[in-house]
Amino acid sequence: MYYPEELVEEIRMKNDIVDVISGYVRLQRKGSSHFGLCPFHNEKSPSFSVSRSKQMYYCFGCGAGGNVFTFLMEYEHDTFQEAVRALAERAGVKLPEADDSPEARKKESRRATLLSANKEAAKYYYYLLRGQEGEQGMRYLTGRMLSRETIHKFGLGFASKYSNDLTRYLKQKGFQDELLQEAGLCTIDEKHGTHDKFWNRVMFPIQDASHRVIGFGGRVMGEGMPKYLNSPETPVFDKSRNLYGLNFARSARDDNMILCEGYMDVIAMHQAGFGQAVASLGTAFTQGQAGLIRRYTKNVYLSYDSDGAGVKAALRAINILRESGMSGRIIHLEPYKDPDEFIKNLGAEQFRKRMEQAENSFLFELRILERDFDLSDPDGKTKFQQEIARKLCGFSEAAERENYIEAVAEKYHMSFESLRSLVGGYAAKEGFAGGMSMNRPMKAAARKSAPRDGARWAQRLLITWLSEEPGLYDKIKKYISPRDFTIDLYREVAKRLFETLEQGSLQPASIISQFEDEEQQREAAALFHSKLPQMALDKKEREKAFHDILVRVKTYSYEYDSAHMGSDIDALSRAVSGKKDLEELKKTHISLD
Ligand code: CTP
Ligand code: MN
Repeated sequence: MYYPEELVEEIRMKNDIVDVISGYVRLQRKGSSHFGLCPFHNEKSPSFSVSRSKQMYYCFGCGAGGNVFTFLMEYEHDTFQEAVRALAERAGVKLPEADDSPEARKKESRRATLLSANKEAAKYYYYLLRGQEGEQGMRYLTGRMLSRETIHKFGLGFASKYSNDLTRYLKQKGFQDELLQEAGLCTIDEKHGTHDKFWNRVMFPIQDASHRVIGFGGRVMGEGMPKYLNSPETPVFDKSRNLYGLNFARSARDDNMILCEGYMDVIAMHQAGFGQAVASLGTAFTQGQAGLIRRYTKNVYLSYDSDGAGVKAALRAINILRESGMSGRIIHLEPYKDPDEFIKNLGAEQFRKRMEQAENSFLFELRILERDFDLSDPDGKTKFQQEIARKLCGFSEAAERENYIEAVAEKYHMSFESLRSLVGGYAAKEGFAGGMSMNRPMKAAARKSAPRDGARWAQRLLITWLSEEPGLYDKIKKYISPRDFTIDLYREVAKRLFETLEQGSLQPASIISQFEDEEQQREAAALFHSKLPQMALDKKEREKAFHDILVRVKTYSYEYDSAHMGSDIDALSRAVSGKKDLEELKKTHISLD
C-alpha cells in the first residue's frame, strides 16, 4: 500500500533523526552534528554523522547515508513501506487502514488460521522428535553431525509412523479438515478419509523472513523415494518468494549471501558459522527470490552441487541474478558433492578459502561453454571466440565491458585489440551499437578518471554548501540553475533543492524520500555531505573557494551544452546564455556574509 507524500513527510518530521538513531547507535555531539561508530561497516573511530538540522545521516567512511526512513531500511532491512509504518507507530501517526473490505478481512483471517495451523504442526513435530517415537529421527539427524543446538535452532521435528496422527491432533485443537487440507498438512480422499501428508520423516519447518512457519519439507531417514516431500503452495506458502534460512541470514553480519541447493546444506553451513546461507525451496531459483536477496545484499556466492545438474542450476541462477543487477560468484566444492559434505570433510576454514577463490560468474559461464567447442581445431576456436564476443555484448556499460574484454583476452590468450574489434563487429551487427562506444579506443587506466569527475565533485560541493548556508541561494540563483547540473540524479536533487530554497523552507531530508530506489537515496544523501573546505580557511579564502566552485560548475555546464549543440536544439541557446553568465560570474564578487 502506498502512502501519500504529505503523510510520509508528516511522519518524517515527527521522528527526529537524532532521537531515532540514538536508539541504535551511541552518538556524541560534535559541533553541529552527532557522531558515532557506523553501524554499516566495521570501524574503530567514529565517521558516522547525524545532523539534526538536515535530518540526515552520512558515513564518511563507507558512504552510507539518507534520512530517517533510509536508516531503518538499511538497518532493519525494511522496505520503504515498512519503515514508514514503523515510524508512524513510533510517532503515533495514524495510517489509513489497509483494504478493509469484508472479503479482504476474510482472506486475512484465513491466512492467519493457516499460519497458526502450521505453527501448531511445527510444535507437534518438534515435540515428537524429542520423545520416544522420534528416536530414529534424532539418531538420523545427529548421525548427520547436527548438534542439539542446531536441531533446536531450525526447529527440526519428526512426523510419526501413524498416517493420521497430526490430523487427529490438530482437529482436536479445533482446526477443520478442510483447512488442514488447504494448509497442505493432510489430504482427504473419499475411500480413506483424511490422512497426513507427512509421515515417518524428519521434518524441516520452512519459515518466512519473520520466522513464521509457512510450510514443511520432510526427508526420509536413509534411502527411499521421494527423498524429500514438500508442502504444496498455499495462500501462505509462495515458493518463489521465500528462501530457506532467510529468517536467520537477513541479520547475518557479512555483506553477502551464500545460495545453496538444499535444506541440509543451509543447516550445515549455519552450524559451521556461515549464517548468511540460504536455499530455494525444492524448486529452481526464481526472480522473486533474487529480489528478496537484493534487499539485503548484492554480493551472492553460489554454492551449488558440483555435479552436472548443479552446474546447470548454477548457470540458470547466474542469469536470474544478472537480470536483477547482481553478479554471482561460484564456490567450487570439488572433490565434494555439496556444501554439507564439504564442511563435514574439510571444515569451515577450508570453505572460507574456497569462498576467497570463488570464480567470477561470467568466467564460469565461459569455462562451461568452452566444453562445447573443439579448441584444437581453428574453426572450433573461431566459433568459440565469436560466441564469447556475442556474450560480451551483453554488458551495456562500457567500463564493465572493457574490463571483461581485458580479463577474457588474458585468460584465453587472445589479443585485447582483436577481441575488442570482434565485440565491436557483433555490436554493430546486432544493433547493440547505441549503447556502446567501440570507436574510441581507451586504455584501461584512462577509463577510470574521465574529466567529468571534476564536474561531479564541484556539483556535489555546491549542493552541500547551499544546504549548509541556504542564505547564499539568493546570491547565486542569477547564475546557476538546476540545468547546470549535468548528472541526472544531481540535476533532480538540485531541482528540488532550489524549489525549497525558493520557498525559504529548506528540507534536505524530504528530498531523499522522493527517490524510490535505495541506491539513489544513498547517492542523493551523499550530495549533502561532501567535505566543504570550511574549517581551515579564513573568510577571504572561503569566498574564493565558493567562487571557484560556481565557476567550475558553470564552466562544465557550458562545455556540456557546447558538446551537445549538434544533437540538441536547446543546447545551442543554453550554451550562448551560459557563456554570458559565466563571463559575468567570473567578474562578480560573491560575499559569504
Ligand atoms: N528436493 C526436493 N525433492 C526431492 C529432492 C530434492 O524437494 N525429491 C529439494 C530439497 O529442497 C533439497 C534440494 O532439492 O534440499 C536439494 O536436493 P539434494 O541435493 O538431493 O538434497 P540435499 O539437501 O543434499 O539432501 P541430503 O543431503 O539430505 O541428501
Ligand atoms: Mn546433501
